[in-house]
Amino acid sequence: YEYFGAHPYKNGYVFRVYAPNALEVEVIGDFNKWDGTKHKMKKILVINGVNLNMLGVREPEVYGKATLKDLHEMIEGWAKEVGCEVTCVQSNYEGEICEKIHQAYGVYDGIVINPAAFTHYSYAIRDALSSVRIPAIEVHISNVHKREAFRDNSVIVPECMGQVCGLGYKGYKYAMEALCDAAKD
Ligand code: DQA
Repeated sequence: YEYFGAHPYKNGYVFRVYAPNALEVEVIGDFNKWDGTKHKMKKILVINGVNLNMLGVREPEVYGKATLKDLHEMIEGWAKEVGCEVTCVQSNYEGEICEKIHQAYGVYDGIVINPAAFTHYSYAIRDALSSVRIPAIEVHISNVHKREAFRDNSVIVPECMGQVCGLGYKGYKYAMEALCDAAKD
């Protein structure tokens, strides 16, 4: 899929054409105000870490009732609104997450990562992010700063543009939006 037009959602004067056959055309704003700039759709990789496959079952009072599948579907819907392409993955293995980050090099424009418990001790994931230098945003469903003391520290966030936490599932949407804005600048 390719995307032509200004950034949707922010600038207002936006339309989307999906190449190559352009059968799918989505008009979001005023086509006449398009300045002629062509943009490729940004590609975002969403990575969910350890135990997040248990969403829906695991502490629903903290993490909500949605399953991982529900969350991925929400994220795919939000990606359409934001105007980016998204791939969602989950792994319980630190090394596998590192490999997914390595493989993102040269392919993805941004990474949204909820490293889950790895947040608090994985220097390996931190180093993987600094190896590829793909702009990344850390997301937590819960507010890690008002829970147990060990959750207050992230060893990964120093390699990220920023952190979204405590805003529930929508944090992933805000992170995608911020990455698309940043990629445009
Ligand atoms: C979490 C917060 C982490 O502290 C925890 O280990 C998780 C989920 C969150 O999304 O709120 O597994 O990343």
